[in-house]
Amino acid sequence: MGLAHRLAYRALRPFLFSLDAEQAHDLVMSCLANVSPLARRLMSLARIDDPVTVAGLSFPNRVGLAAGLDKEARALPALAAMGFGFIEVGSVAPRGEVWSESPRIHRLPQAQALINRIGLHRGGLEPFCAALAQCSWPLDPRAPVPVRLGVNLACNAATLASEAVSDYSSGLQATIAWADYFTINVSNPNASNRHVPDARLALERWLEAIDEVRVNLATQTSRRPPVFMKISPDLSETAVYTLCEALRARSDRVSTNGLQWGVIVANTSTRRDAVRGFPQAERAGGLSGAPLREPVNRLVAQMRRQLGGDIAIIGAGGILSGDDARERIEAGADLVQLYTGLIYRGPDLVHEAAAALCAVR
Ligand SMILES: Cc1cc2nc3c(=O)[nH]c(=O)nc-3n(C[C@H](O)[C@H](O)[C@H](O)COP(=O)(O)O)c2cc1C
Repeated sequence: MGLAHRLAYRALRPFLFSLDAEQAHDLVMSCLANVSPLARRLMSLARIDDPVTVAGLSFPNRVGLAAGLDKEARALPALAAMGFGFIEVGSVAPRGEVWSESPRIHRLPQAQALINRIGLHRGGLEPFCAALAQCSWPLDPRAPVPVRLGVNLACNAATLASEAVSDYSSGLQATIAWADYFTINVSNPNASNRHVPDARLALERWLEAIDEVRVNLATQTSRRPPVFMKISPDLSETAVYTLCEALRARSDRVSTNGLQWGVIVANTSTRRDAVRGFPQAERAGGLSGAPLREPVNRLVAQMRRQLGGDIAIIGAGGILSGDDARERIEAGADLVQLYTGLIYRGPDLVHEAAAALCAVR
């Protein structure tokens, strides 16, 4: 099955790469959103069964889809059929956003990278929730360990830092019925203003304010999904240190409030040193793919040392093979996510990464 998928994607890739990158993305997502259950079964890759519990939540395996590919939650059943252990949808902010002029995604094939300045969900929370309500998730509620759904929340670009918690709070409230976990995206490379404070005390208060919202939601719904903070790979060492200390302080409360925190390391990068000289390298936006592999491995290792063993880390950035996934886990991540690797390698990468991780404990 794996070989058939690999050959099929190898045949399809030249056509997709002949299109504008965003057009190719839209075409593939439309096909995935419309495949019949029978076609889904035919295209499905057997999910690797390698259950693990992270941040208090069980996952069928350790390979997830990173945010941004299915921003609108329109193709969940087809994506689940590819064998992911978890799928993250969004980013979505409370209100819709106007996108910048296209082209908004550029391929850098020599570097196995992309640069994108795609915005947040165009319509905001209302259509996003309507899509979630329609998709009958979870797909297989009777599965011993179902595929997990992450909801990635952002602030609107125009939101002031002082209003950021209110934007995230709207997202948490609107989507709690579906989210197995939440991601708080504080690292959108295309947003000009920072929505999270830098100073330790202010950051702790900010996290506490989010936890107050979570406590209220837990009272109303009995749900306490873990929350992952998604960070930039470009953070300074001091910023990383401060964040780890603040997360540790919040996580000391888990035994009393049951609210788990984690981190996703990392979003796309605004740096260009690794791709300097390649065509398209100076385009505006966030860089993803192979150039992130080593810097993110180092960042994960540094954060694992500072966070200790109790705070979960999801490693995203530059995973294009089973070996890359293994190295990310060995660096200290609990789970991994893919995006750019799928564009260059196709869906077979999901199976390859999950199989490689079976051997790592
Ligand atoms: C076209 C594109 C759109 C993305 N959109 C989002 C997004 O909306 N929210 C987010 O948190 N990350 C977004 N990302 C970042 C990915 O989730 C991931 O963190 C990053 O690309 C690094 O992983 P990779 O090297 O495997 O692609 C996007 C990435 C790409 C390439």
